Formats: sequence, C-alpha cells, structure tokens
Amino acid sequence: MSGIRPTGFLHLGNYFGAIRNYVKMQEDFDCFFMVADLHSLTTHPDTKELKANVHRVLAENIACGLDPDKVAFYCQSHVRETAELYLYLNMMAYKGELEKTTTFKDKVRQNPENVNAGLLTYPVLQTADIILHRAKYVPVGKDQEQHLEMARTFANRFNHRYGDVFPEPVAFNYNQTLVKVPSLDGLGKMSKSENQMATLYLADTDDMIRKKVMKAKTDSGPAEKNTPKPDYIENIFLLMNLVCTADTIQKYEEDYNNCTIRYGDLKKQLAEDMVNFIAPIRNQVDAILNDEEGLKQIMQKGAEKANKSAGETMKLVRETMGLNYF
Ligand code: TRP
Repeated sequence: MSGIRPTGFLHLGNYFGAIRNYVKMQEDFDCFFMVADLHSLTTHPDTKELKANVHRVLAENIACGLDPDKVAFYCQSHVRETAELYLYLNMMAYKGELEKTTTFKDKVRQNPENVNAGLLTYPVLQTADIILHRAKYVPVGKDQEQHLEMARTFANRFNHRYGDVFPEPVAFNYNQTLVKVPSLDGLGKMSKSENQMATLYLADTDDMIRKKVMKAKTDSGPAEKNTPKPDYIENIFLLMNLVCTADTIQKYEEDYNNCTIRYGDLKKQLAEDMVNFIAPIRNQVDAILNDEEGLKQIMQKGAEKANKSAGETMKLVRETMGLNYF
C-alpha cells in the first residue's frame, strides 16, 4: 500500500524512484495505491485545483504502467472508513509524540498561520491509510521513514490495547539503494521545488526536453586519457543509463576515455532518447485526461476494491474494540 500526494506533474525522479517500483510490485503483491487528497487539505485548504491535480496524478501513474485492473488505484476520500479508523487511532496517538514529528515541525516553520490539528495528526491519517488494508509493505522513500515508524507504533498500540488485528507495516524497496535521478545542473537530484530547468517532467514538450538537456552543464572534455569524471559529467552518464541503449553508452564511455568526446553530440543523443522515452507517456496522459468517463470508471473501480478491503478490516476493528452492541 502506498499513497501519492496529488501535487501534479511528476518528473523523471518520481518515475525511476517510485512509480517503477509500484509497477513491479503490482505483479508480485495485492496492491493498494491511493491518491492522498485528504492529506493535501492539511496544507492546501483551497480545493480549486484539487480535481485537476487528482486527475493528473491518476493519469500519470497509469500512463507509467500502473494498471487499475491489477491493483486497487483509488482516491483517499472515496473510502469513508479511512475517516473512521483515523478517529479511533487518534485516541491512541499522544500529542507529545505527534509534536516531535520532523515533517510536522517543518510545516509549522513553513506556515505558522495554519497549524491545524490535521497537520499534527497527519501521521495518524497515514497510518489509517495503510492499516485499513492490513498492509505489510509500504513502498516509500526515506522521507517517510518516520511516518512508517509511527504507523508501527499505532498499529502495535491498537493490537495491545484491543487485540491482534494489524500486521506491522514496513518500508519496501526491491533494490536496497533507491535510484536517484540527478538533476541536469549537476546539483543534487531532480525535484519539484528546485531548479525547474534542471528537472525533466513527464508533461514536458519535446522542445522543452531538448532545451533542458542541451543546457546541462558540461566542459571542454578531459585532457588526459582515463581520467575520473567530474560529478556533473557522471550525472549525465547516469541519465544516459536510464534511457539510452547499451551501444550508445559504450560509445560515449570510450570517447570520454580517449578524450575524443563531443558533449554537444552526446547531449543531442540524450535529448532524443529522452524525447522517445517521455513523449509516449505524455501522450498517454493526455489521452487519459481527455476521457472523463474513463477516468470516472477507473476511480469507481478503485473505490470498489478499496471499500471491500476497508469494510472487512473495519468490521473486525469494531468487533475487536467492543463497539458492537447488538
Ligand atoms: N505522506 C506521504 C507523502 O508525503 C503520502 C501518503 C499518504 C502515504 N498516505 C500514505 C504514503 C500511506 C504511504 C502510505 O508522500
């Protein structure tokens, strides 16, 4: 089970870091993937753009290979039991431990005007999302490790207080080290909040992709044979590894080592391979977004699967808690 915040416009880092993992998991597990629209209300109370953002995140994940027939792919607000479990779990979450959460402290610092209770209990809602399906494996990045730790705490607390219902959820990844997609300016990784021109989005036009790749930082090439690559050149090769053929990569590795490398040519090749990778995804996103009826059916199908699983868990939860009076 995992949640995806509907902040829209996924980039190559999201694709190789997260989505590819989901797409692989759908073959190996019973999966629940959810668009966390309720979580976004803790920081973005204005819902004007929510619908478009929810649609986009659905379309982008599906275009990347997430299959609504294989997994439950649904919106958080379509599963009302989430709110019920969140309520029960809130009685088990202490103010002190919630206040210590790193993400909470960050958000308080960023937005001291809106320190609402939902923000404080964000990890409780996330726990409800996960254990509502009695999920064991949660594919998330490092930034979510503390939230998962709290999910284990709350699940265990429930089990001890009322009876065994929930397994302990743990972070899941196929490869020990998550693929980091370096940004085009040689500084850190691709990210939504940093330099936009250094991040390739799945929604970027062909020309925009070319423009961004051609702007990537290079130099006049190595002066001596077999010199180690500077970081920003290493990063370009890492990007080539994601989308170029083995032959292409080998050619430029050799050129680099022979000091005959022409970065202009390399970037042209990388740009074309990026275009060939991104354009079909982008076109499919557009097709999905243009089919309103199809989107509705996807959401309904997802909600149905998630509601079935949630209903079963909540029946057990109410019984175990003693909330059954007849
Ligand atoms: N908090 C997660 C994030 O910021 C999103 C999320 C919401 C989530 N509910 C979840 C992740 C449940 C994993 C499981 O990305």
